[in-house]
Amino acid sequence: MERNVKEIVSQMTLEEKAGMCSGKDFWHLKSVERLGIPEVMVSDGPHGLRKQADQADHLGINESIKAVCFPAACATACSFDRELLEEMGSALGVECQAENVSVLLGPAVNIKRSPLCGRNFEYFSEDPYLAGQMAKAHIQGVQKEGVGTSIKHFAANNQEYHRMSASSEVDERTLREIYLAAFETPVKEAKPKTVMCSYNRINGVFASENPWLLDEVLRKEWGYEGYVMSDWGAVNDRVSGLKAGLELEMPASGGQTDRQIVEAVKNGTLKEEILDRAVERILNVIFDYVDHRKDAVFDMEKDHALAEKVETESMVLLKNDEILPLKKGVRAAFIGAFAKNPRYQGGGSSHINSFRVTGALEAAKNLAEITFAEGYGLKEDVIDEKLIAEAVEAAKAAEVAVIFAGLPDAFESEGYDRAHMEMPKCQNHLIREICKVQPNVVVVLHNGSPVEMPWADEVGGILEAYLGGQGVGTAEARILFGEANPCGKLAETIPYKLSDNPSYLNFPGDGETVEYKEGIFVGYRYYDKKEMPVRYPFGYGLSYTQFTYSNLKLDKKSMRDTETLTVSVDVTNSGDREGKEIIQLYVADKTGSANRPVRELKNFAKVSLAPGETKTVRMELNKRSFAWYHVKLHDWYAASGNYEIQIGKSSREIVLIDTVELTTEVKVPMEIHKNTTVGRLMDDPRMAPVLQDALSEMMQTMGSGDGQASTEAISPEMIKGMMESMPLRGLRSFAGMDEKALDQLVENLRAAQRQ
Ligand code: BGC
Repeated sequence: MERNVKEIVSQMTLEEKAGMCSGKDFWHLKSVERLGIPEVMVSDGPHGLRKQADQADHLGINESIKAVCFPAACATACSFDRELLEEMGSALGVECQAENVSVLLGPAVNIKRSPLCGRNFEYFSEDPYLAGQMAKAHIQGVQKEGVGTSIKHFAANNQEYHRMSASSEVDERTLREIYLAAFETPVKEAKPKTVMCSYNRINGVFASENPWLLDEVLRKEWGYEGYVMSDWGAVNDRVSGLKAGLELEMPASGGQTDRQIVEAVKNGTLKEEILDRAVERILNVIFDYVDHRKDAVFDMEKDHALAEKVETESMVLLKNDEILPLKKGVRAAFIGAFAKNPRYQGGGSSHINSFRVTGALEAAKNLAEITFAEGYGLKEDVIDEKLIAEAVEAAKAAEVAVIFAGLPDAFESEGYDRAHMEMPKCQNHLIREICKVQPNVVVVLHNGSPVEMPWADEVGGILEAYLGGQGVGTAEARILFGEANPCGKLAETIPYKLSDNPSYLNFPGDGETVEYKEGIFVGYRYYDKKEMPVRYPFGYGLSYTQFTYSNLKLDKKSMRDTETLTVSVDVTNSGDREGKEIIQLYVADKTGSANRPVRELKNFAKVSLAPGETKTVRMELNKRSFAWYHVKLHDWYAASGNYEIQIGKSSREIVLIDTVELTTEVKVPMEIHKNTTVGRLMDDPRMAPVLQDALSEMMQTMGSGDGQASTEAISPEMIKGMMESMPLRGLRSFAGMDEKALDQLVENLRAAQRQ
């Protein structure tokens, strides 16, 4: 419907406008009936609808309506499947339409900096490209149903400890390449209707009142047009927030902060245009929803089936010593409380009131001769000898033992971080005891973030289910018994132990600040650079079939940074059953222009292949795929030189490599002064000849041999080798250059750079 939002804003009173900038209550925005502004509702998110009709809270304590819990992002990211995420998003969008929810709060794209972050289950990955791609697809799915999303938590909110006040101390290159990058692609390409700013401070400034973050980067650089809402209670200073670009405060402020806004306009400390613009942005999103209202049905059965499918496509087979798939009809002992009551979602604001939950015991009952033993309790981490004895008996009597293990609710949740990376001791003990009596053991894991697996070498199979949503048991049964072929790959590295993790020495900080000292070397970027052994690398996952790769082709061998490169590769299913493979494209910078990771994921594709079938997969790369963030340029920069295009089955298993030569017109300005090193100047083709001339001239006048010989004797390589790290002023002491000549040389070098 055509309407003039500016006109509507102009008819609002100051109080109405200020009121529009905070919630009416926990989940609603305010209405202004006389102007046709309706009251709209927002709800969590991200992987299900947590619509609270009565007693509201933001920690998932009070009941919400019955709904469908899809797998959490820790699982769905492992699907590496854009279409699947879009399909799930679209189902959520339809649910929102049916329930009249205008914005679904999510997806959450914060980078998994440490395995300990209590909320990792809700986040996608340690890799910003993968996180960004998954979030983009999720947003597109929800928003195509006419419902808004709120990408969160913007930004650098990577722990729960003191999340409402601590300052994440991060250098700009790291912010840009890792922490902001996960938001950038979805914001630019999927245009979420809203962005939720995080609780924490970034380099000292609260995200909720950070003009650099909310205005410079988000709006001016990324072209964001929706509105920014605060995380629940993230507002520190309301008027500063509004000025910085925080349009909506959530939840309600009891009118207090509305009054502060009114007062600030009246006393001239806040320009009314800023308030008008904020209201306009909020109204645009409200009316967009109003205009896209449609009849919809929340078909729980249908969405439950989709939740099962999403989990089936996401689970990661970590180990398989020819034990899986299990034969149908086998005598199997299903051991562990999670076989019956799986842990399938995390605690906190994303907690869904599932209308049904299927455990593996129920799902597999017709597939095999199954016995069950509980094995461990969930309330406390104590070894229960009786439960262990029962489990051992069941395992002995069976042909195979499948242990359903993982983290109990209390071990990880929104609101606090994990204290360690271990599973409950009672579960580790159980696994060891079962391995003593049964050679065929499979462990199925239910956890939102990696766990140490001291028993990994003793068991025959490990299936990582993560927090798989309410259909997790069906998905597990399908994969265990070969009705489906596992096709997920890890969206994060599983280290051997916590102390291997790059953030280990600086997580979670002292409560005031947390220093991101590992910089850009997060996850596999660190482990690969350090050549550190890991339990399972980023991008790793097994299948019941095998895939072979061949015929890697680049559509050009050299390119400008303004061009696109198309990479193609043939993938063949060389095994004997249908399966899906995730093809990972990594770029390795060989130019030496900066300290960079060994390789970085820059594209991926997922294909389904029948036995013997070959498909050609095409993926594109552009400047950004090669670039790093150059703080002095205030821009992304890909230096001229060679880059390897690597096709991998994981970050540790690169199967095909080719090289492309890239050229750029971008010139990185160098500050030239007496302390600029000879090495840096010799690296630049503009300055190198000037310096070389000056040096050879100087050598001649110093009378060190005949002119011709010394010119020939001083090759650029020699100068560079001998004087790489010497500042120009060193020429005074070591080459007898006088001050005047030195000044002149600096001038000449500057002139050469300008040309
Ligand atoms: C969480 C958000 C959530 C909000 C509303 C906050 O505590 O950090 O992710 O959307 O509550 O429940």
